[in-house]
Amino acid sequence: DVVHVPVICVDGPTASGKGTLASAVAHRLGYHYLDSGALYRITGLAATRAGLSLDVAHEHTIARMAGNLAIKFTTAGRVLLDGHDVTDAIRTEEAGMNASKVSALPAVRTALVALQQGFRQLPGLVADGRDMGTVIFPDSGLKVYLTASAAQRADRRYKQLISKGISATLPGLRADLEARDARDSGRSVAPLKPAEDALLLDNSSQTVEESVATVLGWWGEKRPLA
Ligand code: DC
Repeated sequence: DVVHVPVICVDGPTASGKGTLASAVAHRLGYHYLDSGALYRITGLAATRAGLSLDVAHEHTIARMAGNLAIKFTTAGRVLLDGHDVTDAIRTEEAGMNASKVSALPAVRTALVALQQGFRQLPGLVADGRDMGTVIFPDSGLKVYLTASAAQRADRRYKQLISKGISATLPGLRADLEARDARDSGRSVAPLKPAEDALLLDNSSQTVEESVATVLGWWGEKRPLA
């Protein structure tokens, strides 16, 4: 008999706060956490460093790289690629846009499926991304689709960057995230959209704690069935 490992999916657009929410919920439940966007970010970084343009011309080369990534997520929250710390390098706006580009290539998405599903381990997993509920973990017991207004998301990203000493402008960030949303929602394979059975959560006027409490409440109701 296959042991059932529970999964909570948190999908949504760029800068909706998925990472903050999903990792907090994972922490509270003692579950593992998968930041699937990091896998696309690392793939984009590896391809860029190899001098490849991030388009169909190199789809299969990039997919092969994605399938062979030597990635390690450390318990201290660092991300290692081939033993080198790329945590900061994959968090830039440019790395996000590059991730969005490689993620639109179907062969790249296929190459990352098994790696993502491998994170499903006891006692459970909270996974965040764009297609966790629709493609990677369709049998998940709870699917959350997290949104916030574009203005709110741009504002949060702005504060985040400024606090790290990285310069940015609000209109520039908003234009970037709207471009990324358009690409992520418009692609033919695994586009960003709520799963049919997803619960919608708009956190525009919620604190992180309120969003965490909402999701834990939903999980408490669903868990006996999931
Ligand atoms: O969540 P993020 O900003 O780190 O994701 C970066 C990009 O990776 C995002 O713009 C689209 C892509 N992505 C994806 O296509 N599917 C996922 N499950 C996660 C991210």
